[in-house]
Amino acid sequence: MAKCLRDFRAKRVETLAKTLAKTLAETLADWTGWYLGFYDLTSHRNDKILDWHRKYGPVVCIGPNEVSVATLDGTRKIYGTTFRWAKSNYFDHFKGYGMRSVFATKEYEEHRQKRRFISSFYQPSTIYKLPEIEHYVKDRAEAVVRQIQHDQPVDVYGLTDWYAIDIITFLTLGPDFASQSIESPCVERQIFARLKQQQFVGPFRIRHPRAYAAFSRAYQWLSSKRSYLVADDDLASWCKDRISAAMDGKRLLDSHSLLRHLLHHDHTGTENAPLNRDYVAAEILDNINAAEATVAVTATYLLWRLTAAPLWQDNIRKELALLPVQEDGSLSFTDIDSRVPALEACLREVYRLHPASSGRAERVVPQGGSVISDFHLPEDTIVTTSVPALHRDEVLFPDPDRFMPERWLNADPDTLKAREAQLIPFGHGGRICLGKALATLEIKVLIASLYQQHKSVMEASTTAESMRQCSTHDAVPSALKCEIRFQRVAEKC
Ligand code: HEM
Repeated sequence: MAKCLRDFRAKRVETLAKTLAKTLAETLADWTGWYLGFYDLTSHRNDKILDWHRKYGPVVCIGPNEVSVATLDGTRKIYGTTFRWAKSNYFDHFKGYGMRSVFATKEYEEHRQKRRFISSFYQPSTIYKLPEIEHYVKDRAEAVVRQIQHDQPVDVYGLTDWYAIDIITFLTLGPDFASQSIESPCVERQIFARLKQQQFVGPFRIRHPRAYAAFSRAYQWLSSKRSYLVADDDLASWCKDRISAAMDGKRLLDSHSLLRHLLHHDHTGTENAPLNRDYVAAEILDNINAAEATVAVTATYLLWRLTAAPLWQDNIRKELALLPVQEDGSLSFTDIDSRVPALEACLREVYRLHPASSGRAERVVPQGGSVISDFHLPEDTIVTTSVPALHRDEVLFPDPDRFMPERWLNADPDTLKAREAQLIPFGHGGRICLGKALATLEIKVLIASLYQQHKSVMEASTTAESMRQCSTHDAVPSALKCEIRFQRVAEKC
């Protein structure tokens, strides 16, 4: 029978009193958002919510009107296409040039229409089949390999970031306007580095946008070291300039770019109905942001985990060595993707332990309320699935905090199916990530290029604490760097 949220709170208070595990602050969490706000500010939000799920169960009240859920059934209800729950006001903060991109659109129907504009561009059959995309990704991966000096420390968070920027600017703006940030210092490097710092003040900004705007302008005027406070504005200006230049570019019509796709496709079925230019710019800005941050974080955690697990580096290298080499000397992505199970298992394990998103995929319970895992949630309640709680479920993933790629290789078919269903780093349902194919291509090609002839070893500056994954928008490592060293492996004679 459905219980209402009030009963649920009362039951929780009772249970907590019995176990004496309750602190005054935790009880207050039900009535005030400030308690969780504190963990927001210290970028521990996701860890705290995971703790609460481990203590109190699969449905937890995390604020006056906010609930976190840790069941697959609940997730299907919240995000599935059947119920069409809208996104929360949190997504108002992701508008660009005053417009809502696909990601920032809240209502179901408006979102469905916009998603049609870009989904064909990113679908696997486009990303994996166009030779120029694979070619460019390999070119950038080789550029990364060229930056590596034998046995010298290298910050792979920086390198993977530049790799991701170069590729997404190529795809969104076309070849003439792609950045070349791997090879040399450039404005893009600076803007994205400052954006990473800016995330740590994100929660304050989201709670108090006007105060933040005034404060950040004043503060950066006083000290240029604080220019990161307006990094998002700098990115928006940079992006708008690049889009204007690309629109005047001679080869725009020949390029397979998102810009051309949005400007020159007849999306409405009626002639002379081009998309609003500011909307097009907002979509491109959002895609650049989404693709740069997530790919860099995932690739960095994969490199870090592999560096700590040399056996898995060897496994990947051995499997790569069995693949046929193409005429141009490279391995085909199809082979890397389908015939290197050790790489696939390591990547899945990184998606499980280090999902590269904020954890705030908030949705709003529609009119009439809804029942999730036996709890009745009133309409307008903000609900989110805790991805860490699903990914670290100790029944499905024994020893859940350990990096164990073998769990994806040795499981019986039913267990494997259950694990796959509960692995949702790209979200779930009608708003699942559009960039999964591109992310997979980028990450696998990069890892194959790096480990074919190198092994990596840990640098002393890289520790569990420096790699603590923060609950910022892009789930970044706390030190904003990951230093490791690469050494060439001996060639077989
Ligand atoms: C490892 C890499 C990535 C991860 C883990 C990831 C994760 C996610 C997640 C969790 C969502 C859903 C957010 C929600 O439901 O509120 C999302 C949405 C989205 N992602 Fe990604 N993403 C990745 C790479 C990319 C790339 C490379 C792009 C390329 C442009 C991209 C573009 C998008 C877009 C456009 C959406 C909005 C989809 C919609 O609302 O319909 N992502 N991503």
